[in-house]
Amino acid sequence: MTQGCGSGSGSEKLWGGRFASDVDSAMLDFSESTEADSYMIAEDIWGSQGHALMLHDCGIISREHLVEILRWLEIARERFEAGELTLKRDLEDVHMNVESYLREGAGPEAGGRLHTARSRNDQVITDFRMRLRRYLLQIRRAVIVLRGVLLELAASHSEDTMPGFTHTQHAQPITVGFWLAAHAAGLERDEQRLANAFVRTNQCPLGAAALAGTSFPTDRELTAELLGFDGVIFNALDAVQSRDFAIESLAAFSALMTNLSRMAEEIVVFSSPAFGMLEVDDAFATGSSIMPQKKNPCAGELARARTAAVHGRLMELLTLLKALPSGYNRDFQNDKPPVWQACEHVIATLRVMAPMWRSMTLKLERMAELAGAEFASATELANWLVRERNMPFRDCHELVGSLVGRLVAEGLTLDDHQRVAEIVTELGQPISAEQVEGIVDPVEVVRAQKSLGSTNPRQVLACVAQLRCNLEEDASDVEADQQRLDEAYDETMRRVREVLGEA
Ligand code: ARG
Repeated sequence: MTQGCGSGSGSEKLWGGRFASDVDSAMLDFSESTEADSYMIAEDIWGSQGHALMLHDCGIISREHLVEILRWLEIARERFEAGELTLKRDLEDVHMNVESYLREGAGPEAGGRLHTARSRNDQVITDFRMRLRRYLLQIRRAVIVLRGVLLELAASHSEDTMPGFTHTQHAQPITVGFWLAAHAAGLERDEQRLANAFVRTNQCPLGAAALAGTSFPTDRELTAELLGFDGVIFNALDAVQSRDFAIESLAAFSALMTNLSRMAEEIVVFSSPAFGMLEVDDAFATGSSIMPQKKNPCAGELARARTAAVHGRLMELLTLLKALPSGYNRDFQNDKPPVWQACEHVIATLRVMAPMWRSMTLKLERMAELAGAEFASATELANWLVRERNMPFRDCHELVGSLVGRLVAEGLTLDDHQRVAEIVTELGQPISAEQVEGIVDPVEVVRAQKSLGSTNPRQVLACVAQLRCNLEEDASDVEADQQRLDEAYDETMRRVREVLGEA
């Protein structure tokens, strides 16, 4: 039994003083959080190092006690990095585990001073924010990789045509690069949402103590700086009770997954032989146990499924937090599993999506063949009549509509240029087969688009260039955020080593 704690109960608990008996085993199972907490052991140790350094800087603990505390925190860190530090369930959580380890090593006289001016309430939310910001950086990097893959593909297919859809029906010819760049543009906004979530996450709650602040002369700004935070959460009560930063992250993940799921849906549908517009590489497909011929786009289907899981985690967190009264509530403990799970789902999805898109075969001939199918060039024929014959658009729409009706009845298409020319001429607008061909050929249709941001190959290349430029900026923002964290960690470590006389 550790000296000075849980006296009389035989408990090792650091809060045992007022209790006469040990906790019921069902209660322990119900209340301990070591599994979710195992994600933030490194953060708990770093946070404790920063807190201890601050306590000494402010004259709250002696140099001698600081040395003992830091020595044992370093040993804990080394053991953790060697994979030898596992959390004991009967110590409830990561905070009690690290502190108990410290007390065993440094002894209660020094070890028992680390928790001065600190509560598990500000400690847990500090660890949580520190771990989540690390996940956010990892996810932002993975989104950048996928954006890069899509933009590379878009640049090399700026002129290739494919069908554009509305209502999943052939609508107008577009270019492959246009389609891919649209997905990349969506992911760019996802990145912005993640970067915003990072800003709000990276604020320091430590020093708020249980809820009211502390009567010790602490320096919250120093701790925030040592722990790599960009600022301090001023109001102590707000600091311990707010979880909206996590809601923001899960909302950003949910929007991201919705976009990934839509892309995945297109992989599934477009790779179906009925469309036949793309083929997933064998490395990202699976077979059937009974049908030897099958090649299934399971990665796309599982990406859709992971999206459901992430949306569910957002709902779980929103529901957990609603109607909680002010201050720390133990309900908060259940905020971490949904966040870790969502992060892992997002990372797993992005890890597969990027190489799957990179290795996919785009069946350009089939795409081109479908680009003009189902009268997809009809709108452009109507536009041509507006321009060349100075007719109101509504009349041209009507004329081309009757043309399509007659072609359908005759079992023909817009590719039957001679017949199209005859019918349009009959409908009062003399036109030759050659003219028709020059208007309805999908390659001509996409070239005819002139508006800003249209599917015209030149507009597509301009769009890709802009998206690439933004991508580079986002990539350097991520690295700058990472660098600030690394520098803060190095500074903490430098000060730790200095105190331990190892500098
Ligand atoms: N495991 C707890 C959590 O995740 C740590 C904070 C416990 N605080 C308390 N007052 N019981 O929220």
